[in-house]
Amino acid sequence: MKDVAIITGASAGIGKALAIELAKTYKVGLIARRVDVLAELCSEIESKGGDASFRSGDVTDESSMVKAVSEIEADLGPCHLFIANAGISSGIRLKSFSAIKSKSLYDVNLTGVTNSIGAILPQMVERGAGHIVTMSSLAGSIYTPKSFVYASSKAAVDSFAYGLWMAAAKHGISVTNLKPGFVRTDLTAKNNFKMPFMMEPDVAAKKMVKAIARKQISYSFPWQLHYLIKLITCLPLSLQRLIMSK
Ligand SMILES: NC(=O)c1ccc[n+]([C@@H]2O[C@H](COP(=O)([O-])OP(=O)(O)OC[C@H]3O[C@@H](n4cnc5c(N)ncnc54)[C@H](OP(=O)(O)O)[C@@H]3O)[C@@H](O)[C@H]2O)c1
Repeated sequence: MKDVAIITGASAGIGKALAIELAKTYKVGLIARRVDVLAELCSEIESKGGDASFRSGDVTDESSMVKAVSEIEADLGPCHLFIANAGISSGIRLKSFSAIKSKSLYDVNLTGVTNSIGAILPQMVERGAGHIVTMSSLAGSIYTPKSFVYASSKAAVDSFAYGLWMAAAKHGISVTNLKPGFVRTDLTAKNNFKMPFMMEPDVAAKKMVKAIARKQISYSFPWQLHYLIKLITCLPLSLQRLIMSK
């Protein structure tokens, strides 16, 4: 009997790659706004012998997430693994800074995470079991002049995830915070700066699924970028600014 995994932002990029990888061992519930794309992915998974269900859901809309999650649970059964993956980047820099664009980003990357997790956490607490995965980024571990709004949203996801991990343990709920470096998706296609150690989504998904299976609290990868960031963040801020402005 397969457990059920639900993934937000499953229509593209990392979420889609995670859905394909997880469908080897889980029944997968797919949530995003583009249902036509989700329907295609669902058929692809089913054609390979997997079980999948999809619903339209906008992570910025709490009620749409509650509806999508409860309908997928009705289709597939109780959700054991929930991955709050949906996220956006903005390309906001100093000269293009916009409060409205920043709010839209936080609406998806922060409120979207709390709306998504809010749609499953009460059921997991009641069952005394479950595994919640948040999709942060290595960007959340460093200060950057090139994507500071995006990076700050991911730093907040880190803080949320580790606090949730502390609170959830006594309820039998695990938490894993994923912190990828650069992965080749529509999101990174918009970046006009250097992206060292770029990974393909299927390679990244395999690594993340292993970290999830190990119930790692935090998984930062690739290791080269993880340690480079650790090194840079030990330096005085003035030196960090010089390095990160290149
Ligand atoms: N790519 C990277 O290098 C990288 C690195 C670290 C972390 N991440 C994080 O990984 C996650 C996925 O990124 P990605 O690179 O795979 O991006 P992507 O290819 O642009 O895919 C984003 C996904 O999020 C969904 N989405 C966006 N807004 C949504 C909303 N309001 N409601 C529901 N779904 C929404 C999109 O689906 P619809 O448009 O169909 O709704 C799509 O499925 C993000 O949280 C991102 O910050 C990415």
